Amino acid sequence: MKRRNFLTGTLLAGGLAHPSLSNAIPAAPSDRFTGAVAQGEPLLAGPDPTNLAILQALIIPASGYAEISVNDGEWQKVLPEHQGMVAYETHTLKFFLPQIPSGAKLRYRVTVFSVTYQSAYKIQRGPLVTSQEYMVNCLDPSKKTTQFIMWNDTHENAKTLEALQEKTRKIKPDFLLWNGDQTNDVYAAEKMANQYICPAGLPIATTYPLAYLRGNHDVRGPAARLVEKFTHSPGADFTHAFRSGPVACLTMDTGEDKPDHHPVFQGMVNFDAMRARQTKWLASVVEKPWFHSAPFKLLFCHIPLWWTQDDPNREYYNCHKPCRDAWQDILKKAGIQLVVSGHTHQPAHLPVTPERPIAQLVGGGPQLERATITHFVANEKNLTITMSTMDDKVVHRFTVDPA
Ligand SMILES: [Fe+2]
Ligand SMILES: [Fe+2]
Repeated sequence: MKRRNFLTGTLLAGGLAHPSLSNAIPAAPSDRFTGAVAQGEPLLAGPDPTNLAILQALIIPASGYAEISVNDGEWQKVLPEHQGMVAYETHTLKFFLPQIPSGAKLRYRVTVFSVTYQSAYKIQRGPLVTSQEYMVNCLDPSKKTTQFIMWNDTHENAKTLEALQEKTRKIKPDFLLWNGDQTNDVYAAEKMANQYICPAGLPIATTYPLAYLRGNHDVRGPAARLVEKFTHSPGADFTHAFRSGPVACLTMDTGEDKPDHHPVFQGMVNFDAMRARQTKWLASVVEKPWFHSAPFKLLFCHIPLWWTQDDPNREYYNCHKPCRDAWQDILKKAGIQLVVSGHTHQPAHLPVTPERPIAQLVGGGPQLERATITHFVANEKNLTITMSTMDDKVVHRFTVDPA
């Protein structure tokens, strides 16, 4: 069950008395913020403004709160409250924001502090440490244009993450979509902040929101069950459904790259059940007016639904036939123009053929020389998609006409 936060409409000057709550915007987070309790900068995930969350990685067990200001209105405090208690976490704090209006200017900052429980009557709070202030322009379905970026299959490769980060910050996208295989596997909670919230120490989504998608490597290992705590996806099973300008985006989770009954899993996965839930969700979301009316309709999923060859005797999937079989007819009927994936570590643009009713785009691999960045730029007349290498060579560039 999702935790909801308690939101108070506290006036800045009256409600929260500590010296860091000023209107000044420091140029960088203070050393105290990144060096004592918190680790790295916060991450804003959604990207739908009606369902955003801020994540903050921690170095030591701590609690805290976020503060937000919408369209330069009064500051409001967002507590990570669950069942009446404020979070006290070891590795990360997660603040679920109230619904923010489309296109709003959102300012936010995060405060953290250590807590010592000596007895029921003696709980001691450490010094409050506040991040710098960040500003985000929230997604707006009524805008005539949008542009956004996709990363995929970074697999904890620091050089690739740094290159992607530098390019993305220059582009200033409306949102960043991270299409799976952030990790190689997930064995230890203490490593997960560096895998998902501040990978390679980078502030990957502070001034634009992140759309997080899970890949097959992110379900490997005992701690993979904690991924939800270190990321945020508005829908169940890591699904998203949102619109930015003329583009409607759906995301779905393709699970592992082998069937559930494969002996390697020892019965510890049941992606068939998840796929059945997602199929129901897909059939219902494509009926929504905001989706129906979008000139461009895209599905993002980590494992492609089609690949250059479709070898049924292969031990693992290069493309996901069970997902394709479950979703293809609904996707086609709903007018999805392109499925965008990663996973193969080999870029490809597969156009529509008699056997492939929807075009498929696939991004590159984790190493610097194999990585790609994919830039989507849309107005009401066309959607231009450019996939480039880290040394700025164009791998694929094409336009999609409105449906
Ligand atoms: Fe991968
Ligand atoms: Fe993969």
